[in-house]
Amino acid sequence: MARGGSGALLLVVVLAVVFTSPVSGNSEGDALYALRRSLSDPDKVLQSWDPNLVNPCTWFHITCNQDNRVTRVDLGNSKLSGHLVPELGKLKYLQYLELYKNNIQGPIPTEIGNLKNLISLDLYNNNISGNIPPTLGKLKSIVFLRLNDNNLTGRIPRELIGVSSLKVMDVSNNNLCGTIPTTGPFEHIPLSNFENNPRLEGPELLGLASYDTNCS
Ligand SMILES: *[C@@H]1O[C@H](CO)[C@@H](O)[C@H](O)[C@H]1NC(C)=O
Ligand SMILES: *[C@@H]1O[C@H](CO)[C@@H](O)[C@H](O)[C@H]1NC(C)=O
Repeated sequence: MARGGSGALLLVVVLAVVFTSPVSGNSEGDALYALRRSLSDPDKVLQSWDPNLVNPCTWFHITCNQDNRVTRVDLGNSKLSGHLVPELGKLKYLQYLELYKNNIQGPIPTEIGNLKNLISLDLYNNNISGNIPPTLGKLKSIVFLRLNDNNLTGRIPRELIGVSSLKVMDVSNNNLCGTIPTTGPFEHIPLSNFENNPRLEGPELLGLASYDTNCS
């Protein structure tokens, strides 16, 4: 009787602990683990990415804030190939997404536009294709948007004109088309950061050049 009672008490305590523990760290770990599964990693730089840990804050190449939320992913120059995943859009506190100089293919997920705290999106020197998602216009903290040396097509989304935080943008060496915007943050971005896009016209003369020149 006494043993049964303490067993029941133990069960109550265990359940209370399980149901009151913060689980938010795990959802970010799950999102990053989805990225790991989508990438090929010959140098095993993602080996420490164990989804069974309580949060991803001890994983290599991940930085968290004091509340154990992921603020930084540092995977430049890591010989990664494969695709980005929509789950990246769940990393709500992410400030730096550094994936430059790999061989990542496929599109930029539109969900990246959900990263309201993102300061730096560095995807340069990969093999990323598809359009620049118009949802990147929702990145109200973005300062560095470096997408150069990929295989991007389509127009420069006009949604980016409204992103006043944007200071450094480079889309050179892609396959973009249309014209280069001239207003908002584009006033201060040098034309060399648009070069080597064979179908991209010069800066648009407001009201004269058609915005989708060479895009069909
Ligand atoms: C880049 O990706 C395309 C598919 O989108 C593929 O055909 C091509 O071989 C890749 N290039 C390199 C250098 O891996
Ligand atoms: C760019 O993508 C096209 C297919 O969309 C592919 O044929 C080409 O090889 C790619 N360019 C590079 C440099 O990988």
